[in-house]
Amino acid sequence: MAVENLSSCNGNEQQDGKLAVSQRESFHSIWSGFYKKALKERQNQLRLVYTHLFPSQPSQLVSPLSAGPRSPNGGPAEPPSPEPIDDAFPLNGLDEQIADNMVENCVGTLGLPVGIGLNFTINSIPTVVPMCIEEPSVVAAASGAAKTISTFGGGFTATTTDKNIIYAQIQVMDIEDDRIAIALEQVKARRDEIISLGNQFCQNMVGRGGGVMDVTVRQVIRRSDTKRPKEVRLERSYGSWIVVHLHIDVCDAMGANCASAVAEGTAPLIASLTGGRIGLRIVSNLSVERMAKASFRVPIDKLGYKGISGQDLAFRVVEANEWARSDPYRATTHNKGIMNGIDAVALATGQDWRAIEAAGHAWNGVRADNYRPFTDYWVEEEDDGRRYLRGELELPMPVATKGGVLKTNPVYSYTLGLLNKPDSKSLAKVMVAVGLAQNFAALRALCTEGIQRGHMSLHARNIAIAAGAPPHAIAECVTFMVETGRFTRSAVKEYLTAHEVHHKIRLNGSFEDIHSACSSSDLNGMTNGHANGNSQEDEAPPSLFYFEESDLTASRTAGVEDRVTLNVAFQTLGAKPVHIELVPNVPPTKVVRQLFGEKSHAWLSELYGLLESLKLITIKPERANVILAKKLKLLSVLLNILIRRLVTAHPLETARFIKRISSTRSASSESDLNGSNGDSPTTETPPSHKLGSGIFRHRVILDVDLKHISSTGTDHLRIGFPLILAIWQVFEFRVQQWVGEPLLARALIDEQWRVVLALVDAPLRHIAPTASSPESFKAVMTTHAKRFQSTIFALCDAISFPEAIVTSSLVRVLRCIGKRLECEHAVAHDLSSSRLLRDLKDMTEKGWSDDGGLGSGVVNSFLLWLKIVKGWNEDMVREKAFRAAGGAHVHQLFREEMAAFLGDVSRKQDLVELLDSVDEWHVLDRSRLKDAMMLFRIHYQIDVI
Ligand code: MEV
Repeated sequence: MAVENLSSCNGNEQQDGKLAVSQRESFHSIWSGFYKKALKERQNQLRLVYTHLFPSQPSQLVSPLSAGPRSPNGGPAEPPSPEPIDDAFPLNGLDEQIADNMVENCVGTLGLPVGIGLNFTINSIPTVVPMCIEEPSVVAAASGAAKTISTFGGGFTATTTDKNIIYAQIQVMDIEDDRIAIALEQVKARRDEIISLGNQFCQNMVGRGGGVMDVTVRQVIRRSDTKRPKEVRLERSYGSWIVVHLHIDVCDAMGANCASAVAEGTAPLIASLTGGRIGLRIVSNLSVERMAKASFRVPIDKLGYKGISGQDLAFRVVEANEWARSDPYRATTHNKGIMNGIDAVALATGQDWRAIEAAGHAWNGVRADNYRPFTDYWVEEEDDGRRYLRGELELPMPVATKGGVLKTNPVYSYTLGLLNKPDSKSLAKVMVAVGLAQNFAALRALCTEGIQRGHMSLHARNIAIAAGAPPHAIAECVTFMVETGRFTRSAVKEYLTAHEVHHKIRLNGSFEDIHSACSSSDLNGMTNGHANGNSQEDEAPPSLFYFEESDLTASRTAGVEDRVTLNVAFQTLGAKPVHIELVPNVPPTKVVRQLFGEKSHAWLSELYGLLESLKLITIKPERANVILAKKLKLLSVLLNILIRRLVTAHPLETARFIKRISSTRSASSESDLNGSNGDSPTTETPPSHKLGSGIFRHRVILDVDLKHISSTGTDHLRIGFPLILAIWQVFEFRVQQWVGEPLLARALIDEQWRVVLALVDAPLRHIAPTASSPESFKAVMTTHAKRFQSTIFALCDAISFPEAIVTSSLVRVLRCIGKRLECEHAVAHDLSSSRLLRDLKDMTEKGWSDDGGLGSGVVNSFLLWLKIVKGWNEDMVREKAFRAAGGAHVHQLFREEMAAFLGDVSRKQDLVELLDSVDEWHVLDRSRLKDAMMLFRIHYQIDVI
């Protein structure tokens, strides 16, 4: 049936949902790179973007440190307070108790993945679409096609019929053939009476402005198939039936129950009017008055794909559609692809997908005499000669946003919430747009390279899982399969064996223990970035931090991905969202300069490049997860630079902020870090906090000081603090999801935390003003040097080690090596002419502070050594420094002292001995490490000494 009376869009869309092109782009850009994120990161982003969907229970949100007073022996005096109840992400599926009340003989529930389809713009509204489906590549394909259509065609136009009409059918039998016409007339004549009786059985609908709108009646000719052998048939003399349709506007309900109630309620009246016998009374699922249509139009010159020109592609798509029109075998598959998208949204939003399927295919049957594709495509040309590919999809769409199971299963309030709580017509529009995108994606792939390549790389995940790959290694197994073109379990096993990832399976013949290790690593201790739902800052729209790696560092990565990008959604403490881009060769904006310094990107690349040149591993061929290591390193460097900038500008606030974060971490972690610094080669890897006890925004933001900053503080802090949190979370989520060895994952998180604490502790917290001794200098150096990050880099490299060698002793050794390198780096850095001159000037102007650092809060290890170990006072240093005619001479002036200083702090021999004692770790490149320390001196040009 044609849909003439389609309304162009509904009330919702006329309101503020409609965005200008630039706003649409920025909305979509929040989602760019979404697929590369860790699951927890994605969940966190959803919470950030859809704060209203994740209401908090502040009274239940408890910081781990508020777990009561400590007992004298350091253990908790009381049982720890429960984790926040919102730890579990709400899209976790159906509660068993609820399920038990939904169907009979319930024995459990079945989980399916929910993804989100991105890049949809429907009637100018950017739309994020929840999709629940077990088939890989469906979500990716829809998002890819939607990107082309939204970017080059302005998105989808979608319409629906004015009302949501469903038919209640009443079958009337036993009317003699010559009385049929009279019976039909009787029903037509008593239309109003039937409507008013019918409305008594759907008062709810009437109350919502719907209800029975019309009555129609048809004669249906009896048809029966040829008789089967031995079949006994009830012979009747009547050749046809009467079927009465009550047309009910069911508003936003699905309406099947309502229609059946109306049919049953009005049947006696129909019987008396017609003199017939009532047969079946039930809803009809052929919803021809509940149609939805989506279309798009994209200039063909924008359609180029996989080396095929736009024009060529457009005609190939049209031809593919034509084939489906001419051949029911193809049309069925074509339509199956459409239903991949529609059913996925239906499933995610609690629709009766059987009704949608039945309506679609039946409608196809009644509108034409052969089974056809639901879609149509054609190329059209404007007067100016420009050509466009047009695509269109029209289907019955009996969907509901009220009633039915929607209230029983709480998950649907989130999935419908992602769609901005649509009415049923808006939902129908989304669903046809997704169906059209899905079909366009399939045709585009099929008429170019075929779907196998893309499909296989996604299906490869299933192969990896089936082959027993541990969850953290699935992505790299997929990369291996794609690279080698071998999509088999044996390829996965080969890869895992080659990199000794699978050692537990090989040794024990079972994957269970790895799996249980992963799940027992308390990932469910994870919570999210939202809680304080009522506070003003949580209402603010999300901000975006975008980082792109420079050519300089990108070229250092072998293989997998040329250039790292990071896209982090976060929420400032102010009302205004910001868009921060840290990209190479683009002049930094004011906020980037504030947060990352004048040199911002160049500085970051230089620091990363220098640390990376000391790479510890020699694994060939590289494991595909080197890219994870690289991303973690970059996140770590970003945090380092950001915190350092904030510490310099706002030492007290930043220290308080970091302490606040510290207090949200588990007590065991904190005591370890504050106590031993975790540096002693003999210290075991910390017993550590639970992996899941991360830093979470709601816990930190509850702090009164931060509330104060959010109302009066500078932009610098309002943006900087939440950005630190967000980057930390990204670091932590990725470690938790993708670092396989729990031991290493813990070490990475702990080490990163040490770096962060060291940045705020650099002004020598541990040293009493009177304690001037080589020992106290050593202790201070340890904290001071931590920010040079060699340990975290070494631990990141260990992600690619064969898992069998990742033991606590290896972690200890890496930390020792890292500590030595950090110390060397700090020394070389502090002795560089420019640094030393600046610090001498600082000392002259501001003096030494009580805690041993310079007045500005900076520590210079050489000046500190002069003070603590040599016992020099400021005047002695100044006297010598004043003789400097200029920067070039500063080394010569201090030459003797510097040589003594270097001799004192250099641990080269220790390192060599350490390496010689660790023969079993064949992956460590000893020769490179032995020379490593010189590298810093060369880099900072202090090789004159
Ligand atoms: C696979 O689930 C769907 C496709 O077969 C659809 C089509 O062929 O158009 C790719």
